[in-house]
Amino acid sequence: MARVPIAIVGCGGMGGRHLYGLQELYGTDMCNVELVAACDLRRENAELLADNAAKLLGKRPLVFTDMAEMVRAIPDLQAVDITTDSGSHHVVATAAFDLGLHVMCEKPLALTIRGCNLILEAQKRAGKILSVAEQYRRDPMRRLVKALIDAEAIGRPYILFEISAGGGNQIIIWPWRHYKHIGGIVVDAGVHTCDVMQYYLGAPREVMARTGLYEKIRYKGERLGVQDFYRHWYAEVPDQITATAEDMLMSMITFESGVIAQWTTFVSAHGKGFGQSVLYGSRGSLHDPGSRNGRPVVLHLDGQGELSGDAVLDLVPDFHLDEVTAKLFGGDRLGHYEMGFPAADRKLVALEYQELGACILEGKQPEVDGLVGRKALAMCNAALESGVVNRTVRLDEIEEERTAVYEAEINRHWGI
Ligand SMILES: NC(=O)c1ccc[n+]([C@@H]2O[C@H](COP(=O)([O-])OP(=O)(O)OC[C@H]3O[C@@H](n4cnc5c(N)ncnc54)[C@H](O)[C@@H]3O)[C@@H](O)[C@H]2O)c1
Repeated sequence: MARVPIAIVGCGGMGGRHLYGLQELYGTDMCNVELVAACDLRRENAELLADNAAKLLGKRPLVFTDMAEMVRAIPDLQAVDITTDSGSHHVVATAAFDLGLHVMCEKPLALTIRGCNLILEAQKRAGKILSVAEQYRRDPMRRLVKALIDAEAIGRPYILFEISAGGGNQIIIWPWRHYKHIGGIVVDAGVHTCDVMQYYLGAPREVMARTGLYEKIRYKGERLGVQDFYRHWYAEVPDQITATAEDMLMSMITFESGVIAQWTTFVSAHGKGFGQSVLYGSRGSLHDPGSRNGRPVVLHLDGQGELSGDAVLDLVPDFHLDEVTAKLFGGDRLGHYEMGFPAADRKLVALEYQELGACILEGKQPEVDGLVGRKALAMCNAALESGVVNRTVRLDEIEEERTAVYEAEINRHWGI
């Protein structure tokens, strides 16, 4: 199978995690990309990723600190996988398009609508593929939830509760998740939630929210990051930081369909944390298990009681996972799966790479393209805007930049 030469740009925590997705894909007969370069402003980060790639993939990619130099040195390079911090996505992605490359960009596509639009305009100029690396919806259990909703297994959807609390006053993942101009945690994590909500329920119409910053000083815990992917840089993190980004968002989102979601994320909750994602409909409820845990979807239906696992599959006789997902997860009709976070995580990243390769080689369009990625950000930013302007904010106002009080400071910081 032909392999598209690609580079990873941004060799920190997520760049390193993406290597495991590549390793997963390399181990199948569906591999259609090849890592040929690693690029980071910090040469030592690119060298570290290249060393790990040599171990995991069997070949060391070339190392660069500048994308233009990388393209000159590797004329057949076709695509970049952008895993730089979120604030820089609009800078790196527009530069990549202007260098004639296809782009897969980590979520969020950018931090503001203006940033997203700069990327979309550059994509149009270049005529290349833009895929947003949004993996949560690709989990087999998420695919099943979507099929169950579409089949009206719980009847007509009424109300979604999407609520989580935890975090206390610790630094969450990495310091920049608390800085508004690089990518605050409400957007960093919330954009996943918003993408899953739009995937399940369709287009959102308007949002009313309260937002806040409860823990202005955050402290370094014994563990940072996701699993061990950030350990290499642990000593660089100060003992405490001053947060500038919100750590609480409580919102009510109305979708075009009339469904209402109560989306709350409270990452400064002390004590016992919790998380729930439950959709209520006209015939029952659906507990969404989340992604990368393989736990079954649980339904409670009027007159039938609880249904979960394989029993749920009877409600969606036509449900099948796509061929690549089915091969990676070991079946095309899964009611649950048995694997932990690391294995499921790398399979989902493998799916993203495989889709990118297929888009470039076969002219397909990515599932989460620039407009879908922008919509997920618009949901987050509509809620953050509502928290600032103290009124209900429509999604079209955000997407057309007719109100951008929240985003103005970020746009100013980046000079866009
Ligand atoms: N999909 C997911 O589940 C998931 C999980 C974690 C992170 N992410 C996303 O991945 C991205 C990276 O996050 P991270 O945690 O790895 O960040 P990080 O800070 O660990 O790493 C970012 C790297 O990018 C480099 N960099 C910054 N600007 C650059 C530029 N202009 N050119 C080249 N290199 C540059 C930095 O030197 C650093 O090595 C973020 O957008 C984040 O939201 C997604």
